[in-house]
Amino acid sequence: MVKKRTCIFISGYGSNLRYLINNSRNQNFPIKICLVVSNNKKAKGILYAKKNSIPYLIINTNKRNFENIILKELKKYKISLICLAGYMKIISKKFINAFGKTIINIHPSLLPKFKGLNTFKRVLIDKEKKTGCTVHFVNEKLDSGTNIVQKSFFIDKKDNETMLKNKTQKLEHRAFSEAIIKIFRYN
Ligand code: GRF
Repeated sequence: MVKKRTCIFISGYGSNLRYLINNSRNQNFPIKICLVVSNNKKAKGILYAKKNSIPYLIINTNKRNFENIILKELKKYKISLICLAGYMKIISKKFINAFGKTIINIHPSLLPKFKGLNTFKRVLIDKEKKTGCTVHFVNEKLDSGTNIVQKSFFIDKKDNETMLKNKTQKLEHRAFSEAIIKIFRYN
């Protein structure tokens, strides 16, 4: 199997990155992680890249041409899939078009519900019965591309924001890999 050369974008803790790295060690898993991009030099996720000898790029998004810098690296590493795993920066339409290949994102809600930030808080305020996570294709509209995998759980009366986050992240760690397998199963 020829594995898809993949870049993971992160901004923080990187727990999704960690699971993807672990799963990609399996020879039947369809991707090889060839590059990690972080817009935050303090992102803990960078340590996972270092530990696993995966090249990483720390990008200063205050630079006017930062997306071009990223695009150049993606080309250099022959990347054909981008996974946004907690990347807290909106990807521009120009970037999406210039990359021209698949970009997927993980979002901590049952899209199309609760696009954007502060999902757990809004889920509680709206007294939702269920919540979960969604892996979806990225298009130029925020959190709006076609869904690939969605996983949900019932909210307990005692759940607070932290508990919802923990429960959601457990599902995310499985959902991201399942989505990747689903996309490339027949390729
Ligand atoms: C995840 O909850 C993801 O849904 C959101 O950002 C978080 C990243 O977590 N987009 P981690 O950095 O992978 O631990």
